Amino acid sequence: RTIDDLGALSGRTVLVRSDLNVPLDSEGNITDDGRVRASVPTLRQLTDAGARVVVCAHLGRPKGTPEQKYSLRPAADRLSELLGFPVLFATDTVGESANETVDKLHKGQVALLENLRFNEGETSKDDAERGAFADQLSHLADAFVSDGFGVVHRKQASVYDIAERLPQAAGQLVQTEVGVLRQLTSKPQRPYAVVLGGAKVSDKLGVIENLLEKADLLLIGGGMVFTFLAAQGYEVGTSLLESEQVARVRGYLADAENRGVQIVLPTDIVAATAFAADAEHEVVPADAIPADRMGLDIGPESATRFAEAIRGARTVFWNGPMGAFEMPAFAAGTQVVAQALVDATTSGALTVVGGGDSAAAVRQLGFADSDFGHISTGGGASLEFLEGKTLPGLSVLEA
Ligand code: 3PG
Repeated sequence: RTIDDLGALSGRTVLVRSDLNVPLDSEGNITDDGRVRASVPTLRQLTDAGARVVVCAHLGRPKGTPEQKYSLRPAADRLSELLGFPVLFATDTVGESANETVDKLHKGQVALLENLRFNEGETSKDDAERGAFADQLSHLADAFVSDGFGVVHRKQASVYDIAERLPQAAGQLVQTEVGVLRQLTSKPQRPYAVVLGGAKVSDKLGVIENLLEKADLLLIGGGMVFTFLAAQGYEVGTSLLESEQVARVRGYLADAENRGVQIVLPTDIVAATAFAADAEHEVVPADAIPADRMGLDIGPESATRFAEAIRGARTVFWNGPMGAFEMPAFAAGTQVVAQALVDATTSGALTVVGGGDSAAAVRQLGFADSDFGHISTGGGASLEFLEGKTLPGLSVLEA
């Protein structure tokens, strides 16, 4: 169901679940506003239709009680700038402030409620506790629009239970994200290359297993690559290593070979004396990382090989930086891979960047969202979608 299926909205109060989980610096400034921007089209559609719009969202992982550093107020300020009119802010989610704020909303106005996760019921594993919180939320509105794609993999009150309590629809962001990711899961144009990076291989096991059946090429970089190198029998020095996953990864390498899926690993690594921006570093062969060095980026030869493979693909999905990109000395691999995706986009390939970290990385490195086919706002959500898992926040909308 789309927003249009909710019927006339003028004067009706619509609760929107957005994903405004944005990175903040120590002074509370938003350092990447991608998710706030992505929430705007749905809010604009609702305000244009004359709805009274109540936005709810989370920030970080507070444990059910208010904490100033997790306040959503900065997101309310940024939303006001983007929408071009003031967004009201309620200092609680379902209490006095929320009730008063919603009561005074006019047609076409927007209010943002304080962090949902300041309430234990939001993330509770207990159905009754979550349901009770969803009941309270539902009393604020006449209809619900699910637009927080980044949280659809969470069975939480504002994502799942609420949709069983109000007339509901998927917002524009959820529709767009699902539409693009479906192109990756059903009949992607080939060659289909998947670039995986980031720190932990254990976060990516499900997606690797699923992709071994779907992709033609898997390019592996980032901290997780050292578990792959160890699986090939190489020493990895002091690099990140998940020893308990080595056997499993060895199994993937064998499985890939049997299926004719190419797993491309780096042949050179930028190895440093410490995890620090000014650490001494050098490029070493991937099979000869010195015992006292840690790999912090893929090397230039590997980056060139990765880029060639990406430029030759018709479909590319990328999740996870290739190195410690926030330090300039270790950003080159991520930069070269990002540029290759941009080139592939220009020559007509479908390119998708998934995940908060990768999205922040490409923006920090100076790329624009429009350089890519699609930048997903979902990290865990887009990976779980590609794993083929049932996502509670989507299945509840289809019920
Ligand atoms: C994300 O950052 O991926 C989403 O906002 C979900 O946040 P969570 O992992 O804390 O549930």
